[in-house]
Amino acid sequence: MEDQKKILCVGLVCLDIISVVDKYPEEDTDSRCLSQRWQRGGNASNSCTVLSLLGASCSFMGSVAAGHVADFILEDFQKFRVDVSLVAEHAQCTSPASVVISNVSTGSRTILHMNRNLPDVTLEDFSKVDLRQFKWIHWEGRNAEEQVKMIQLVEKYNSMLPQQQRITISVEIEKTREPLYQLFPYGDVVFVSKDVARHFGFHSAEAALKGLYHRVRKGAVLVCAWAEKGADALGPDGLLVHSDAFPPEVLVDTLGAGDTFNASVIYTLSKGGTLQEALTFGCRVAGRKCGFHGYDGISETLSDV
Ligand code: ADP
Ligand code: FRU
Repeated sequence: MEDQKKILCVGLVCLDIISVVDKYPEEDTDSRCLSQRWQRGGNASNSCTVLSLLGASCSFMGSVAAGHVADFILEDFQKFRVDVSLVAEHAQCTSPASVVISNVSTGSRTILHMNRNLPDVTLEDFSKVDLRQFKWIHWEGRNAEEQVKMIQLVEKYNSMLPQQQRITISVEIEKTREPLYQLFPYGDVVFVSKDVARHFGFHSAEAALKGLYHRVRKGAVLVCAWAEKGADALGPDGLLVHSDAFPPEVLVDTLGAGDTFNASVIYTLSKGGTLQEALTFGCRVAGRKCGFHGYDGISETLSDV
C-alpha cells in the first residue's frame, strides 16, 4: 500500500531552449552552433522526469501558462509519464523560459532565465491536494513563505498518522536568496547547493554541512552536492557520509545534473535505502547524465549503475 503511493515534486516547469556549442561565443559575434533543441526544464520538473525514468510514480505540481509552449510542456510530461493533475493553468501569463548555452567541450551550461509573471503554487492551491496519495513531497525552494505554510499542512497531516504512513518532506535550497533560508528547518531531507554553501563562506561540502547543520530540524538529513567533487550528507548521528563523483567518459551536458542527483537520492531513500546508498546512487546517475544530452539516456544506462 505505502509502496504504491507517489512522490510529488512542487516547483518550476519552464521551457529550456538549448543551443549546443563546442566553443563559448564571444559577445556581439555571429556564429553557428552544433544543434538546438527545446527541452522541458525547471528543477522540480526535471526531478520528476528522472524519478519516472527510475521507475517511481510521480506527480508534478506547478503552474503553466497557455499556448504552444505550455502544450509542449504538458505533452512532454505525458511522454515521461509524470502525473500533471495538480498543474494549474494561468491563461493570461507568459511561460517562463531559459536560453541555455550548453558547451560540449567543457560540459558547462550557461542559463539565462526569464519568468515574467507566472505565479508559484500557493497554500490555497496546495490545501486542495489529497495528501493520502503521496509518500514523499519535495519542494524546490521558491516562494518560501508560502511553502512553509504548505509544509506545516503536511506536518499536521503527519501528526495524525503512525510513523510508517507519514509523508517524508524534502526541500531544495539552491538559489542564494535570503527568504529561501527559512526553509532549512522544514525538511526531513534538505538539499543545499554549492552556490548557497559558498554564499555562507564554505569552500567544501563537508564544511558547509558542519556549518549549516544547526539550521535543520532535529533528526533531519542535510545533503550538499559539489559537482565533480561528488556529494556529502550529514544526518542526526553526526556521521558525515560522502560519495565521489562518477564522471562520464566524455563530459557533455551538466544541465539538470543537480536535479538528477536530487531525484536519485529521493528515489533511494523512499525505497528504504541508506544515506550512503542514496548518495552513491545520486552521484552515479547524475554522473551518467553528464555524459549525454537531456535525460532519455538514464533508463538505458540503469542496468549497470
Ligand atoms: P547543479 O549545478 O546542476 O545543481 P551540481 O554541481 O550540484 O549540479 O552536481 C550534482 C551532482 O551531479 C554532483 O554531486 C555529481 O555527482 C554530478 N556532477 C555534476 N557535475 C559533474 C561533473 N563535471 N562530473 C561528474 N559528475 C558531476
Ligand atoms: C536546471 C534548470 C533548467 C532551468 C533552470 C531554471 O537545473 O532547472 O532546466 O532552465 O534550471 O533555473
